[in-house]
Amino acid sequence: MAKTPLNIIILAAGKGTRMRSNQPKVLHQVGGKAILAHVIACAQSLNPEKVIVIYGYGGEQVQAAFANEQITWVEQKEQLGTGHAVQQAVPYLDDDTNTLILLGDVPLVDAASCEQLVAASQNKMVIQSFNKPDPTGYGRIIRNQQGLVTAIVEHKDANELQRQVNEVNTGIMAMPSRHLKSWLARLSNENAQKEYYLTDIVGFAVEDGIDVSAAVTEDEWSVTGVNSKQDLALIERVHQHRNAAALLQQGVMLLDPARIDVRGELDADQDVEIDVGCIFEGKVILGEGVKVGAYCVIKDATIEAGTTIAPYTHILEASVGRNSRVGPFARLRPGTTLAAQTHVGNFVELKNAQVDVGSKINHLSYVGDAVIGQKVNIGAGTITCNYDGANKFKTVIEDNVFVGSDTQLVAPVNIGKGGTIAAGSTITKDTPADALTLCRAREQKSIAGWQRPQKIKK
Ligand code: UD1
Ligand code: CA
Repeated sequence: MAKTPLNIIILAAGKGTRMRSNQPKVLHQVGGKAILAHVIACAQSLNPEKVIVIYGYGGEQVQAAFANEQITWVEQKEQLGTGHAVQQAVPYLDDDTNTLILLGDVPLVDAASCEQLVAASQNKMVIQSFNKPDPTGYGRIIRNQQGLVTAIVEHKDANELQRQVNEVNTGIMAMPSRHLKSWLARLSNENAQKEYYLTDIVGFAVEDGIDVSAAVTEDEWSVTGVNSKQDLALIERVHQHRNAAALLQQGVMLLDPARIDVRGELDADQDVEIDVGCIFEGKVILGEGVKVGAYCVIKDATIEAGTTIAPYTHILEASVGRNSRVGPFARLRPGTTLAAQTHVGNFVELKNAQVDVGSKINHLSYVGDAVIGQKVNIGAGTITCNYDGANKFKTVIEDNVFVGSDTQLVAPVNIGKGGTIAAGSTITKDTPADALTLCRAREQKSIAGWQRPQKIKK
């Protein structure tokens, strides 16, 4: 697809002192994704020729987090103001483009509004503004009688009258790149904060006879920056609330939309039902009619249609086939694939186990590095001993096997098709098909009148 003649500059050099963190501010996460990742995703969705990120504090860490993105990284060594930050990008701006300026700490930035801003900025400057009941600290938008913007005055530089203006600069703006370059060259830092204010370019536009307009947004969150952990927590809730609303809209039933967390991407089909307290991370796919019980944690997993995941189940890098039942209190670890109509019950841990159609592992078992055939029944308390302290070995259980309770299968071992393993066996050798295999102490004896040990009195 041909690129839009657009350069996007993302300001992300600020240290974020108020986060009280060793981590750069823009790497803190909203919805399981770095704040800056949200802004970059918004930028890339506009299909620009270039995305330029101005970085400062923690630059290496920030760049490493986006190693796979097409980004022009530009360092701002000293943070001398927003105008100074944008000046660093000048050598990289393409002629005959428009420039959109975004802030790296505004995770809920809205792509559609940005697109409108860019479309409106072909021969003029357009600022995204917002009417703030308490505008303290923000740059005020000063308009003339025609409604055109004549200046942005920073709070600290504003007089009493100007401070009464509620319309504030969000920091998001767009304009032709060639104008931006010429205006940036004229900035000075003669102001209350001795900073190079980006907002002073409005005055230069007016001097040059270029129109400046401001588009007021109704969505405060889409222009709200994160400055503290309080901000981060609030924005996280807004983000989750919006995710939940979108899921309900798609026909997913959330028993309480305030009690779901999606830290990544949840792709849920209609009539999926999700009870309270569930966390979805990475990429999770839930097929039609899947039910997820309360307090499940599911990461990078696919659950096919008609399956029920009962409460308190943990699933990580695993998949579950149709019409199956997992949990409560089950744990599926990486590499586990359950085919259709499988049952995995309470206190069962599966790791790298491939379980075929119709098999059941219903109680208190550990099955790791195993391949289990169809219609196998694994009794309570079965353990695959897959690890000798140094290496891992595989257990193969063929179709229609019945493993009695409290059995240890010492890998590598193969349990032949249709075989039965007697309860309490420790199986160390391959077992034949269709036979009963026992491996217990040879005799059962009883000692009459057995006295249990007594507690020693002190
Ligand atoms: C700026 C605007 C103000 C606006 C407000 C919205 C100016 C002069 N003022 O205020 O009109 O209402 O944003 O939040 O532009 N940054 C750098 N390098 C710097 C300084 C800042 O990269 O040298 C980045 C920060 O990381 C941040 C953004 O620019 O993402 C805004 O900086 P911040 O200090 O929060 O805004 P103000 O200058 O107070
Ligand atoms: Ca500042």
